[in-house]
Amino acid sequence: MTDTLTININKAAESRLADTDFASLPFGKVFSDHMFIAEYENGEWSNLQVLPYGPISMSPAISALHYGQAIFEGMKAYRQADNRISVFRADKNFERFNKSAFRMAMPAIPREVFMQGIAALIEIDEQWVPHVDGYSLYLRPVMFATDPYLGVRASDKYTFAILTTPTGPYYSKALKVKIETEYTRADEGGVGFAKTAGNYGRSLYPFAEASKEGFDQLIWTDSATHEFIEEAGTANLIFVLDGKMVTPSIRSTVLDGVTRDTLIQLAKKAGIEVEERRVSIKEVIEGIENGTLTDAFAAGTAATVTPIGQISYEGTLYTLADPETRTVSKAIAKTLNDIRYGLAEDEFGWNWVL
Ligand code: COI
Repeated sequence: MTDTLTININKAAESRLADTDFASLPFGKVFSDHMFIAEYENGEWSNLQVLPYGPISMSPAISALHYGQAIFEGMKAYRQADNRISVFRADKNFERFNKSAFRMAMPAIPREVFMQGIAALIEIDEQWVPHVDGYSLYLRPVMFATDPYLGVRASDKYTFAILTTPTGPYYSKALKVKIETEYTRADEGGVGFAKTAGNYGRSLYPFAEASKEGFDQLIWTDSATHEFIEEAGTANLIFVLDGKMVTPSIRSTVLDGVTRDTLIQLAKKAGIEVEERRVSIKEVIEGIENGTLTDAFAAGTAATVTPIGQISYEGTLYTLADPETRTVSKAIAKTLNDIRYGLAEDEFGWNWVL
């Protein structure tokens, strides 16, 4: 970090901490006392402030609402064993945020605004970082276009905000998922790799339909052939096939997940062979049938490492190996957790200890 920025601090008159039930924290519903905001106008980011979390007033004509110029990130702050707080792989999220911004014709956020915004917010809301294993303070940086203008062009004005929400894992059990072969999440040359609102918006109807049939999530496939697995929308996907960790390669239709990247590095270090390549539905189904697919899991910041218990494909429901027997995902998930909570050496330098 370079220059120290001027950030205006407007403290909440009263904290909501005492009214918050830390034993029951559904993902993304409880927000901490403060948020960070910066505004972009005339080519500059200014008006940096930490203020009480709450509604912000804006015109109903803002272009984010009409044309979808909106991007976000998901990151987590952990309370370490020695009570210090660390943010995991903030650099990687920062880089991805600006890649999303570039693709969506939005301005880059300067590194110091992103990082010092997080630091200022966590300093003031330090007590909101949970003390319980498996829990963390989820950080949600978001940028959206604020020109009150209905012409179709990139906005001139933007708001960058960081919200924080104390949370446990997004999923609480092994997932029952459906391989989606009718609808698509992303297309080549599109914005699938960017963390932009529309990728999530277009997934909601197919997801709602699958939920009615009892599925927890969809496995998205490539739009051209529906033969290759891409990702799960809320997370990347990793399989263990023939003892190797196999995951769909990053392409324009797949988000470059931070947890995915982290698990790949941890697996390699543990001597597990890793293949990043196109992964066909056929080989996954065959692997389930002949027992060579021994593990399958979703990997994401919110999802953490969540086992996949059942996969449906073309009307047949396949049950995978009992999650308790899955040595690979259990071992690397534990290593990851230990690093995040300061229980194991952070030899990759992933923790930004505040
Ligand atoms: C995250 O893992 O941080 C995400 O952004 C996924 C989310 C849409 C729940």
